[in-house]
Amino acid sequence: MKHEEHGSIETPSAPPVARGVFSAALPLAERYAALLADAGTVRGLIGPREVPRLWERHLLNCALVTDLVAPGASVCDIGSGAGLPGLVMAIRRPDLSVTLVEPLQRRTSFLDEVVAELALTNVEVVRARADALHGKRTFDVVTSRAVAPLDRLAGWSLPLVGLGGSFLAMKGSSVQAEVDAASSAIVAAGGTLTGIEVLGGDVLDPPVRVVRVVKG
Ligand SMILES: C[S@@+](CC[C@H](N)C(=O)[O-])C[C@H]1O[C@@H](n2cnc3c(N)ncnc32)[C@H](O)[C@@H]1O
Repeated sequence: MKHEEHGSIETPSAPPVARGVFSAALPLAERYAALLADAGTVRGLIGPREVPRLWERHLLNCALVTDLVAPGASVCDIGSGAGLPGLVMAIRRPDLSVTLVEPLQRRTSFLDEVVAELALTNVEVVRARADALHGKRTFDVVTSRAVAPLDRLAGWSLPLVGLGGSFLAMKGSSVQAEVDAASSAIVAAGGTLTGIEVLGGDVLDPPVRVVRVVKG
């Protein structure tokens, strides 16, 4: 990655809990945090006000989603933006094969550069809308955060999930209302809602809420 950008904001240091969450991958997570705070803000991929809370609101909560993913799984993160949650999942879990799907070139260029700079060998960046991959690719797990309301997201994500695999959508405090509104769209797309998982209640406030839908 080029380092001629200026005006970046100092990266906050990792809180003590990050060591327990990332273990041996903490140095990579720290380098990614620094890239988000530097090029990520300069290029407008992440708001400057997010930098002081990069760990609590972004890296740690995205990392915890991997608690719901089986060893060796293939993961597709749709609408990855600057790499959240997919890139963090790949950093925490080198056993996963992670495909980041993002339509905007400005964002895929950043993702390509981060993958190269961190020498991640388990990440593929695909510049496309999620629906452009329907009928072409399937994965064990499809993730997303802040991409679309759950009903629309189900239509984009479930065709990418292999039979028996899962669709995991990170959602905010209105998660129950979204689930209620999306129940018929989930069934129509071949999914079965298995619940709303709450992760990291002991280390994060608010905790991470993930809608979990199984295909088939
Ligand atoms: C608000 S950003 C969220 C980025 C990231 N997931 C995060 O949590 O920081 C939404 C992202 O979804 C992408 N997006 C919008 N429609 C999409 C689609 N149909 N397929 C894949 N990505 C899409 C946008 O380009 C954008 O990067």
